[in-house]
Amino acid sequence: MADGTDQKSSNQMWGGRFASGPSAIMEEINASIGFDKKLYAQDIRGSMAHATMLASKGIISTEDKDKIIEGLNTILSEIEAGTFEFSRKLEDIHMNIEARLATLIGTAAGRLHTARSRNDQVALDFRLWVKEELQKTEGMLTALIAAFLDRAEENADTVMPGFTHLQTAQPVTFGHHCMAYVEMFGRDRARVRHAIEHLDESPIGAAALAGTGYPIDRHMTAKALGFREPTRNSIDTVSDRDFALEFLSIASICATHLSRLAEEIVIWSTPQFGFIRLSDAFSTGSSIMPQKKNPDAAELVRAKTGRINGSLVALLTVMKGLPLAYSKDMQEDKEQVFDAAESLELAIAAMTGMIRDLEVRKDRMRAAAGSGYSTATDLADWLVREAGLPFRDAHHVTGNAVALAEKKGCDLADLSLEELQAIHPDITKGVFDVLSVEASVASRTSFGGTAPSEVKKQIAWWRGRN
Ligand code: ARG
Repeated sequence: MADGTDQKSSNQMWGGRFASGPSAIMEEINASIGFDKKLYAQDIRGSMAHATMLASKGIISTEDKDKIIEGLNTILSEIEAGTFEFSRKLEDIHMNIEARLATLIGTAAGRLHTARSRNDQVALDFRLWVKEELQKTEGMLTALIAAFLDRAEENADTVMPGFTHLQTAQPVTFGHHCMAYVEMFGRDRARVRHAIEHLDESPIGAAALAGTGYPIDRHMTAKALGFREPTRNSIDTVSDRDFALEFLSIASICATHLSRLAEEIVIWSTPQFGFIRLSDAFSTGSSIMPQKKNPDAAELVRAKTGRINGSLVALLTVMKGLPLAYSKDMQEDKEQVFDAAESLELAIAAMTGMIRDLEVRKDRMRAAAGSGYSTATDLADWLVREAGLPFRDAHHVTGNAVALAEKKGCDLADLSLEELQAIHPDITKGVFDVLSVEASVASRTSFGGTAPSEVKKQIAWWRGRN
């Protein structure tokens, strides 16, 4: 970052009151240009809309407006070409652009800041940025959901053990398990859409905090910048960072989902589970142990969640003690959001790649699904349905059958009819129809249940919803 000493400092820009420049430490703690230069496009877009509105209301001349727009266009190309000199002395992106505009077009530049303050300006730039990021996140979640829908479709009949407490519970299908993630990321996407709707109000024109006496048209700038309408309270407008907090909350919940998935991928890809094989593209080897294939991408997704959650807590903590309206504390909002956004994008992209690429080891899933007495509930249900036992008694009888199988070191389906009848005389050979994992899974046809027929219905429902 070029930081020419010959350049104006922001103290000079606001003139008379300040006899000397800031101390070096003041400059360092005060400057945000190092990170808020990311907002240059939004800042320029906002200034163009503001200048256009000022001219249309006769607050500045058309001539000045044209000069301003032309100058801003030059600055945009300079920044994009990498030739713009950002200066820390000028604090932030707003002052950097305004100072350059003055160099380019002279006095007309000074008219741009009429009827606005950096307080509404930064609120605008940041909102525009968060809105675009949310739109991007929405698209990325749609891609992740699509990856899961494809895997679910291919695996609607793939039997695997379902777990509670990470102990084998009941057989489910891998397709059903994939659809659980579709629900989770679908909720994340709904939250994203809701947040876009929430923040879709334009802050510009709130000025420092009280509004302005100039005859501005906030509806016009709102429309030009793609917002639904202007915000309704100028004090709230410059002190509100809910849109950033909502972004971080949504990012944290989504990252938490990604992290749970990452954890499952780590577990499933161990040789002991062996449910999946990760593609080479999303794993690494060990520098010392030749046999290893490590799920690094999944582990890093799991870890990024820590950063994202940390950003949410950091910004909540920044905001919690602030009186209305603007305080400089709020400058600390951006790095949290930028960092969380970058981490979330990477995590979603990595996860989408892993899900698209992973190899499902159906044989291993099937074998594990049959172990651990996963169809014990089916036996109990059979006793209720066919032998008329109250569920509690059926539970007890089944417990005895499990104990016997455990003693013999076999599965429930391997017990003989005689052995089962010794436990309860009403058991008939029909019971063997429900002791297989396939039969167990196929029987769970309740709405949202794991039966392949039901899973296929849910896949079709989601396919119609993108
Ligand atoms: N750099 C500041 C921020 O990020 C811009 C707003 C400054 N406003 C002010 N009154 N000092 O919040």
